[in-house]
Amino acid sequence: MTMTGTLANHDTHACNCKSAMKHSSFHQFLLLLLVLLLTDLASCDDQFIFSGFNQSSLSLDGCAIVTDGGLLDLSNGTAILSGHAFYPTPLPFRKSLGGNVQSFSVNVVFSIFITYPDLSADGMAFFIAPTKNFSDARAAKYFGLLNEKNNGDPSKDIFMVELDTYRNLELQDIDDNHVGININSAISFKSNTSGFYEDGDGAFRRLMLNGNMGTQLWIDYDEGTTQINVTLAPINVGKPSRPLLSATYDLSTVLSNSTSYIGFSSVATTINTRQYVMGWSFGMNKPAPPLDISKLPKLPYLGPKAQSKVLTIVLPIATATLILSVGTLVTLVVRRRQKYAEVLEDWEGEFGPHRFSYKDLFHATRGFKNKNLLGEGGFGKVYKGVLPLSKAEVAVKRMSHESRQGMKEFVTEVVSIGRLRHRNIVQLLGYCRRKGELFLVYNYMPNGSLDRYLHCHEDHKAVLGWAQRFHVIKGIATGLLYLHEKWEKVVIHRDIKASNVLLDGQMNGRLGDFGLARLYDHGTDPQTTHMVGTKGYLAPELLRTGKASPQTDVFAFGMFLLEVACGQRPVKKDAEGHEFFLMDWVLEHWNNGLLTKTLDPRLQLGDYNTDEAHLVLKLGLLCLHPLPSSRPRMREVMQYLDGDVQLPELRPTQLSSNTVALMKNNGLNSSVVSYPQISSSFCTISGLSGGR
Ligand SMILES: Nc1ncnc2c1ncn2[C@@H]1O[C@H](COP(=O)(O)OP(=O)(O)OP(=O)(O)O)[C@@H](O)[C@H]1O
Ligand SMILES: *[C@@H]1O[C@H](CO)[C@@H](O)[C@H](O)[C@H]1NC(C)=O
Ligand SMILES: *[C@@H]1O[C@H](CO)[C@@H](O)[C@H](O)[C@H]1NC(C)=O
Ligand SMILES: *[C@@H]1O[C@H](CO)[C@@H](O)[C@H](O)[C@H]1NC(C)=O
Ligand SMILES: *[C@@H]1O[C@H](CO)[C@@H](O)[C@H](O)[C@H]1NC(C)=O
Ligand SMILES: *[C@@H]1O[C@H](CO)[C@@H](O)[C@H](O)[C@H]1NC(C)=O
Ligand SMILES: *[C@@H]1O[C@H](CO)[C@@H](O)[C@H](O)[C@H]1NC(C)=O
Ligand SMILES: [Mg+2]
Repeated sequence: MTMTGTLANHDTHACNCKSAMKHSSFHQFLLLLLVLLLTDLASCDDQFIFSGFNQSSLSLDGCAIVTDGGLLDLSNGTAILSGHAFYPTPLPFRKSLGGNVQSFSVNVVFSIFITYPDLSADGMAFFIAPTKNFSDARAAKYFGLLNEKNNGDPSKDIFMVELDTYRNLELQDIDDNHVGININSAISFKSNTSGFYEDGDGAFRRLMLNGNMGTQLWIDYDEGTTQINVTLAPINVGKPSRPLLSATYDLSTVLSNSTSYIGFSSVATTINTRQYVMGWSFGMNKPAPPLDISKLPKLPYLGPKAQSKVLTIVLPIATATLILSVGTLVTLVVRRRQKYAEVLEDWEGEFGPHRFSYKDLFHATRGFKNKNLLGEGGFGKVYKGVLPLSKAEVAVKRMSHESRQGMKEFVTEVVSIGRLRHRNIVQLLGYCRRKGELFLVYNYMPNGSLDRYLHCHEDHKAVLGWAQRFHVIKGIATGLLYLHEKWEKVVIHRDIKASNVLLDGQMNGRLGDFGLARLYDHGTDPQTTHMVGTKGYLAPELLRTGKASPQTDVFAFGMFLLEVACGQRPVKKDAEGHEFFLMDWVLEHWNNGLLTKTLDPRLQLGDYNTDEAHLVLKLGLLCLHPLPSSRPRMREVMQYLDGDVQLPELRPTQLSSNTVALMKNNGLNSSVVSYPQISSSFCTISGLSGGR
């Protein structure tokens, strides 16, 4: 099974050859004839065959080993180490010193195994060389036989056939699966894609060198024609008559020594590749003895079952998994991009610091989950969030916006308002824009909005006592005064109401929702806009003209005062669907001397300051005066609330008759006051729809 008797055969022939040469030096006359005879009959031919390599005397170096199973393993999987296997003695390629390189024939069965089927690493080579010492050679691209300095050096006397599974463009490799004939160089003299020509139809069939299966290789050299044929075939196919590669090159010009070593070298790179030789035969001046495939050692991974397992189960699964995970990854990346995509325009550069990234807001609010929902208003939903970096608690208002018009003005306002700081105002921290969406980021107010305390009994909020209510009222008045008169610009809030009054940790009232406020400089006329506001809080002239002014804010503030004192909404529907106006109701009671009756019944349970309560109710009604010029300004409102100035004596009839008169002037019947433009509680969003 191993070397059989042929190795001994070779030794005797080698001896014959040498002794013949000695004789010729003694008897020149006789010997000339003798040599001729010997050349013809028993020239320096020899042959050997290895069917497996256990007990063979191959010379090994590097990482080459013979496995227990008898396989020659040229690379034990170690990175950047090459291994060599030599026939132990040099073979007499030349009959005599001056003679030509004789015909020879090589037959090899090899297999290159790669752990990752989709990858390729350098392969292996069969070579003929004058030495066994390749300590100066480079493993990777020079096949462990040459190096960058001596590559191509004609004095190297190396002939090789490369089985290359890596495309190195530097070495002019044609592809990553080729066979080449090389002379003193890692660059092939001639090469072709690995494969074979079928004997029947002559068709070319590709063969994967690292196909993890046994492959046969034949190398034939003819002394007379100096033709080199290289032929490949799968392990179970006989030698094809047409070689894969055929070149003419006189090896006598290459192998200058009379004897040369033959063997294999491997290239081991970082990718786990194994190069195995299963069988090897050689013939000098005669064909290499054919290898009996059935007697070759089995590849460790090969048994037909193992192979089919690798190829038919593991490979498809691995490929499918790979495709799936790559697909998932790509989808995820794309989704992620879309998920966090924002709209950012050039002009926003100047607002940089006020701009939040959508990703941050998304994570802050845990993906805008309902769990984080604080409430919903006419413009969108409000979510609680914690900013990832600063850990600051914020309220994020998410609004939809369709049009890009007016966006710049709006953002300018947002940023401008962002600079506005007051202890009775909810700080606007910044904004973010996405396609069709706008986000406003505010400081989070732990105690929520005031309307919850006044109207949402199911919220189980504590009843606000009078002192707390009065404190909130004063705070809101201070905040509004600041907006109207004390800041660099006149800011009209436009949407004063209990749900836009938020309570901070110390139960201070703070005005929120400046997203709607429009700014105009001191002294210039208020601009005409679409109406913004909430039913019941809209001053009559606002309904008529659509012009917001500090006076319309005062009107809304008046309504807010009544709402807080009475604990009732400005407009209600009774059982029959008739609208019921808080203002009319309070006026009526005042008329009848029953003002105290209008106070929130829940207040009656505790202490309350009757003077303050009456002051708030009356001031509320005064602020609700139908004539804007008759309403107090916020500065005066503050003075009344602080008790610095006495509230002017008012007759309730004055107010109500005025109301009626005004309504009549406008062709409206006081009993059916309605706000036809207002659906539900909102009008158009002027700032967002760009309705200027
Ligand atoms: N900064 C904040 N901190 C805590 N909660 C807030 C904050 N801003 C809003 N909220 C809560 O979110 C709810 C909804 O607010 P939103 O402003 O959207 O509606 P609204 O005030 O009822 O109506 P409008 O849209 O007219 O302002 C509020 O009622 C309040 O409870
Ligand atoms: C491979 O061969 C090298 C060199 O002989 C040796 O140092 C290394 O331990 C071997 N590795 C394995 C896994 O056999
Ligand atoms: C191999 O060759 C190198 C020089 O290329 C030399 O240094 C070394 O001693 C040689 N080794 C043997 C075993 O001859
Ligand atoms: C082999 O190489 C030659 C040129 O060197 C080319 O003409 C031929 O098509 C190649 N054959 C195959 C099968 O690639
Ligand atoms: C090389 O192949 C050709 C074509 O099959 C053949 O004619 C020739 O004899 C072969 N030469 C050798 C050295 O085998
Ligand atoms: C064979 O070649 C090697 C190196 O090329 C050289 O050192 C050696 O002396 C040569 N041997 C013979 C017998 O010519
Ligand atoms: C020699 O190789 C054969 C396979 O060809 C194997 O079955 C046998 O176990 C090997 N013998 C030894 C001693 O390694
Ligand atoms: Mg609000």
